[in-house]
Amino acid sequence: MEMNTNQNNISSRDIPVIDLSNHDEELVARAVVKASEEWGIFQVVNHGIPTELIRRLQEAGKEFFELPETEKEAVAKPKDSMDTEGYRTKYQKDMEGRDPWVDHLFHRIWPPSRVSHRFWPKSPPEYIKVNEEYATHIKKLSEKLMEWLSEGLGLKREALKEGLGGETVEYLMKINYYPPCPDPDMVVGAPDHTDVNGITLLVANEALGLQAFKDDHWIDAKYITSGIIVIIGDQFLRMSNGKYKSVVHRATMDKEKTRISWPVFLESSLDHVFGPLPELTTDDESVPKFKPYVYKDFKFRKLKKLSLD
Ligand code: SIN
Ligand code: FE2
Repeated sequence: MEMNTNQNNISSRDIPVIDLSNHDEELVARAVVKASEEWGIFQVVNHGIPTELIRRLQEAGKEFFELPETEKEAVAKPKDSMDTEGYRTKYQKDMEGRDPWVDHLFHRIWPPSRVSHRFWPKSPPEYIKVNEEYATHIKKLSEKLMEWLSEGLGLKREALKEGLGGETVEYLMKINYYPPCPDPDMVVGAPDHTDVNGITLLVANEALGLQAFKDDHWIDAKYITSGIIVIIGDQFLRMSNGKYKSVVHRATMDKEKTRISWPVFLESSLDHVFGPLPELTTDDESVPKFKPYVYKDFKFRKLKKLSLD
């Protein structure tokens, strides 16, 4: 990426907040489309996921990370595993060689055929039930957002979901746990990046840290109780032939508070081929701006920082 993302300019402009309970659905859909075109990140409120369920999700995740290390190791990612699932503690340096200051847990929550409780914490006891409930809600909300975004491209509502893999689309839960950090210059939370997947739906706790890069500024994502932050990823940038932006974002740490975030990544299964949706590139004016990729190859090339057409 050519843009200069190093500067620490903080802007007072806010990431758009969209109230999904507005009765004028057309208006809501337009706001979602506009925010995805201009920002690639927005927050949704009154989205239909019960506040209490989000609170229980946060509580269960927090309790897991507060367990002794030996108990967390029960769901550790096996050393020889080629998959992402499992618990990992501070495992890779960033590009400048700074240590990461974050622990992770990854496990799929959908589709049922791809869910293995092997990597779901058994403690606290309600962890599994809460995550199962959250999965059905987050799927419903994601599908609604994808319908609006598909219509915003002038396509049928199922277009983006189908382009991402239809019923084989995978929902990957991640928990990021960033302990308080006495010297934020020495370590890194999440370095600048765009998400590789289609779309990400994230809840966080009240410690601020997520920042989006827009018009040469880093902009803080405000904390709104029960708000869900929506991030457009590389797959949707490409599938929309560049209409929706995949936003550059990062996570900083708090000096005093533990920050926790719960992104759910919607992504294709590894063998799925994705690229600009064919209906968008049928006439002469709309040439495809990106090549199609098998998702596995795309992810690998991005991880290795290899060129991507
Ligand atoms: C990330 O985007 O990798 C982290 C986001 C967050 O912790 O808020
Ligand atoms: Fe991210």
